[in-house]
Amino acid sequence: MILVTGASGKLGRAILSALSHRDVVAAGSSRAARGSLRVIDFDEPRSISLSGVDTLVLVSAGEAEDDVVIARHDAAITAAERDGVGHVVYTSLTSAGDHLGFALAHRWTERRLEQSTLSWTILRNGLYADLFGSLLGWSGNRLTSAFGDGALAAVRREDLAEAAAVVAEAPHRHEGRIYDLVGTPVTAAEVAERLGVPLVDVTLDRRRQELDRAGLKPFQPAMLMSIHTSVRHGFLDTPGPDLGHLLGREPGDTLAVAAAAAQASAPAA
Ligand SMILES: NC(=O)c1ccc[n+]([C@@H]2O[C@H](COP(=O)([O-])OP(=O)(O)OC[C@H]3O[C@@H](n4cnc5c(N)ncnc54)[C@H](OP(=O)(O)O)[C@@H]3O)[C@@H](O)[C@H]2O)c1
Repeated sequence: MILVTGASGKLGRAILSALSHRDVVAAGSSRAARGSLRVIDFDEPRSISLSGVDTLVLVSAGEAEDDVVIARHDAAITAAERDGVGHVVYTSLTSAGDHLGFALAHRWTERRLEQSTLSWTILRNGLYADLFGSLLGWSGNRLTSAFGDGALAAVRREDLAEAAAVVAEAPHRHEGRIYDLVGTPVTAAEVAERLGVPLVDVTLDRRRQELDRAGLKPFQPAMLMSIHTSVRHGFLDTPGPDLGHLLGREPGDTLAVAAAAAQASAPAA
């Protein structure tokens, strides 16, 4: 049986959906009791029962300080070792993402898996196309961007989910492999052109001031600024072949996804 964690989140739900089209037995888990989902909360290690699980798709449980995320992932991997899980598929962060503020917890988790007794596959996911679009801003009807001329080799969650399903369906073919799942480069200028609006470049300092006023959690502005500066300075722009190889097709249109996400935050006309 395949168990997908974080199954009420966007990626986990998409992975379960991709598995439902394959000839496998799959279930999901979530922190809260929802429908047929198993209740598993990595913050409550006693809630983590993985009995009967052959393949665990461990969706990263980010959005917190490193010590919290690391403790969550450690608890999940410790339970997988204890309960005899055959293979763990971990959704990590693209190889080019080491400058990002949330990279450390991913690399710690990869190291923990590599040193575990488990068979594993690491999916180094690129940044989502909709995240790129949502990090653009608006000044009236003008799109604002701190990404400069930088591009992001963005990915669609649906493509990442399908790639995870391909691996989870036949895990032993992918044992000990690290896949770098990045997609088609997209720029702020392309998003503005797609939306038919002017683009204004803003400095990192201006974007940080906006984030500081946005009422975010304490760790979030620094993490988001690390995305802005990494894209702006060309650290996340390089596509790679792994995603297309796993999918057996070209990854989908990331510009459309990024543009839709930017449009969603546009001020009402
Ligand atoms: N590549 C990117 O661009 C990018 C961007 C943002 C985040 N991420 C990472 O990718 C993950 C999945 O992305 P997403 O779009 O699906 O995010 P999402 O919709 O916000 O879902 C986050 C998931 O984390 C799970 N989670 C949080 N705390 C948990 C805990 N204590 N125990 C177990 N699960 C916990 C949640 O599970 P339940 O609610 O089901 O319990 C939820 O499914 C994120 O958690 C984050 O680590 C990647």
